[in-house]
Amino acid sequence: MSDHEDVEYTDSFIGALEMVWGDGFLSPGGKEEIALFLEGVDISGKEVLDVGCGVGGCDVVLARDYGAAHVHGIDVEGPVLERCVARAEREGLSDRLSYRKVDPGPFPLPDESFDVVFSKDAMIHIEDKHSLFAEVFRVLRPGGLFVASDWMRRDEGPPGPEAQRWLDVVGLTFGMHSPPFYLDALEKAGFVDCSTADRNEFVTRALRADHALMTGEGREELIRRTGEEAQHYIDVWHAGMRAAEVGELRPGHLRAFKP
Ligand SMILES: C[S@@+](CC[C@H](N)C(=O)[O-])C[C@H]1O[C@@H](n2cnc3c(N)ncnc32)[C@H](O)[C@@H]1O
Repeated sequence: MSDHEDVEYTDSFIGALEMVWGDGFLSPGGKEEIALFLEGVDISGKEVLDVGCGVGGCDVVLARDYGAAHVHGIDVEGPVLERCVARAEREGLSDRLSYRKVDPGPFPLPDESFDVVFSKDAMIHIEDKHSLFAEVFRVLRPGGLFVASDWMRRDEGPPGPEAQRWLDVVGLTFGMHSPPFYLDALEKAGFVDCSTADRNEFVTRALRADHALMTGEGREELIRRTGEEAQHYIDVWHAGMRAAEVGELRPGHLRAFKP
């Protein structure tokens, strides 16, 4: 696997993300965050779609720890999916985890084909939330559940200075919106009992701890994983930490039901 020009989640970026967030995870909190957003719901025996599955750590947790019958992960980047397939084999879960590379836009998936749509910190990359949630609604069976977390922002005004700095430094394709905007898009798609839960405090703590690790005892490991880009990742984490500290970033959980 090598870094490609058209790939945003390069080997070195994945190296930095997994260093702070654990093997298989490109977002903070890992198993503990998944436990929180699945609190009170039972996904055992269910068919799950994971939108923006990254390198597949979440899918292993959903199948192995929560008994999902099958998890189908979709992502726009090929190299991350190669890692997912290898992980599924290593975990002995190849019969319950499947993956597909997709283009941005409508899902190439049949109507009403999943019981649960799951997504962890990936929908930030998709600008048109109304079309996105219409697609999520379409592929869910009646009675289906949407659960996710995402990097949201404080409001729909221009990003505050710290959020703007983070967006500039991180340099990824983002289409950020506020929690009320997400709720509106979910309701317009037809979902009911839509809710968000703010995780700003948790993410602020996580980014502070990550930044301390990257600039302290983990510095050598970061350089080993990312080479000359180490300082870039330190800057990314510092900017994210500041944007979270001042409340311009509002990461949170989302939940909604298809009637
Ligand atoms: C921050 S990572 C999160 C990965 C994983 N969910 C996790 O928590 O470890 C975001 C992922 O979303 C993927 N992505 C970006 N745009 C997407 C789209 N339009 N559809 C599906 N996946 C997308 C990226 O390639 C990346 O793998």
